[in-house]
Amino acid sequence: MLNYVTTNAGKVREAEEYLGNESVGQLDFDYTEVQAPELGPIAARGAREAYRHAGEPVLVDDAGLFIEDLDGFPGPYSSYVEGTLGVERVWEIAEALEDRRASFRCVLAYCDGEGFAASPDPVDRGDRVAAAAAGPDADGEVSVEGGSAEPLPVKLFEGAVPGRMVAPRGDGGFGYDPIFEHDGATFAEMDAAEKNAVSHRGRALGKFAEWFAER
Ligand code: IMP
Repeated sequence: MLNYVTTNAGKVREAEEYLGNESVGQLDFDYTEVQAPELGPIAARGAREAYRHAGEPVLVDDAGLFIEDLDGFPGPYSSYVEGTLGVERVWEIAEALEDRRASFRCVLAYCDGEGFAASPDPVDRGDRVAAAAAGPDADGEVSVEGGSAEPLPVKLFEGAVPGRMVAPRGDGGFGYDPIFEHDGATFAEMDAAEKNAVSHRGRALGKFAEWFAER
């Protein structure tokens, strides 16, 4: 059983739709979301923490909305911005922009305690970038997570989808789905299968599923 690590039931529904619900279970584990400019190191660190917690294979899903004219904001801060400003206010900010192009990005981070053979998808080895993103510990030291010289390798799978910001439409999905339009429909106007066929998460899940079948 693969543990899909998230507190977000909407993400799990989409993963089940893609991978089949016999092979995926939700691990409702709130890993530490470090603040970092890229999704990859955030997801990789979460995957190590979740693997140490569960002792079983884990897949962490970190996603964000990147608005082009705002230099990618809210990006890795999407969760915080949804919780503070809310989706309606993000639309109000986007409405004032001339260029409303945006993209959703998703990084899936897989860890099962073992190493990985070479493939086009990147491996995060908990190097200094991830250590720096984690910030200093209680003694003010920046160290590799877990204090180990051999941090757990994590495999990363990325997906992105272009679209544009629109006034809220649709009742489905979750998060920013009602204000993100792709090919004439918002993600909230699509069912899970339609969204997966084009979405950032669907694209990352597709790469992961192909690789995982050989694992
Ligand atoms: P996180 O990956 O759980 O940290 O999510 C970051 C933020 O993006 C949260 O506010 C989510 O609600 C939002 N989000 C993540 N994936 C999606 C998606 O597929 N559609 C809409 N919003 C999303």
